[in-house]
Amino acid sequence: MDTKIIEICEENIDRSKMEEMGKIIAGGGLVAFPTETVYGLGANALDETAVRRIFAAKGRPADNPLIVHVCALEDAVQVVREIPPAAAALFRAFSPGPLTVIMPKAPGLNDAVTAGLDTVAVRIPAHKTARALIAAAGVPVAAPSGNLSGKPSPTEPAHILADMDGRADGIILGGSCAVGVESTVVDVTGDIPVILRPGGVTQEMLEDVLGRVDIDRHVLEAAGTADKPKCPGMKYKHYAPDAEVTVVEGGMHAVREKIRVLLRERPAGKIGVLAYAGGVYDADLTLYAGADNQAYARNLFGALRAFDQAGIETVFAEFCGDMGYGLAVRNRLYKSAAGRVIYVGDKEGKQ
Ligand code: TXA
Ligand code: MG
Repeated sequence: MDTKIIEICEENIDRSKMEEMGKIIAGGGLVAFPTETVYGLGANALDETAVRRIFAAKGRPADNPLIVHVCALEDAVQVVREIPPAAAALFRAFSPGPLTVIMPKAPGLNDAVTAGLDTVAVRIPAHKTARALIAAAGVPVAAPSGNLSGKPSPTEPAHILADMDGRADGIILGGSCAVGVESTVVDVTGDIPVILRPGGVTQEMLEDVLGRVDIDRHVLEAAGTADKPKCPGMKYKHYAPDAEVTVVEGGMHAVREKIRVLLRERPAGKIGVLAYAGGVYDADLTLYAGADNQAYARNLFGALRAFDQAGIETVFAEFCGDMGYGLAVRNRLYKSAAGRVIYVGDKEGKQ
């Protein structure tokens, strides 16, 4: 397939180029686009054939539902049956932004978007280019992350080109994604709201608005071990680079000591370390995730792809602390490590 590739600067959006991309979506095509979380692969959510093309382009299992993107909550009326008060409160507080809310779906919404569930995921992105695309399309836009299924989500132009050039009708390049991990997914259809996927909007932030908010127990399980997760995406091996990742978790000092021991054991092949700022290792490639977990979130997926590009076969990833962005980072790290987690303990890790 010939993919039309354009570059858009968020601060100076070329309207005529966006019209062209909007028309592709309105006409049943696929357009990859930047958001504040990760790049997405969009189609008209109301067009079942177009939505099915997303699954084909990504190699995504049909039982993993998509998120519908709109510019404002009113625009969700075509896809939801009702807007529960908790959903309205969350959108008021955190949208536009990295938050997705699960609501009862409209009876007429096609099953491809929701994978046959009676609920639908809705998100109001903040990225100006994403919003301009949705407005130009004139329809709600169903969009999963724009990676090939099973690969780390794309957070840079090079990532979305690598995965979607030749598979999407259009690609909008728009620089790096500021958040770097996908949106927080919250289900408000039960008695107590539940976080199905942690992201930039944290449990503490949600509880400030709603009172008690639980975290689905699958959030911290490695992919593949989950039985019947509420968020179908949880059961797939996500974010998995070719390299074998092992997470080393605990207090910073103990984590670094442990990784040095592991490096001295010299596993076969090229070895990489993903470290917070200041970690010095005798590895083939050490990549720095930043000074804190917010930076780690921004850099994680790019680092996983970079290890693969460098032919690294074993990665040891430092992880400390699960407050704030920490839970989102830990969730993605655990999935990329498919259960290989070494706890080195000590209080520092639980700060
Ligand atoms: O930040 C994001 O959310 C990005 C950008 C492009 O907006 N999108 C994204 O989509 O991450 P995706 O498809 O990669 O992840 C959507 C997650 C999946 O884990 C899926 O199972 C879950 O949301 N989901 C979608 N609809 C659902 C529903 N009705 N009930 C429960 N989980 C749902
Ligand atoms: Mg995804």
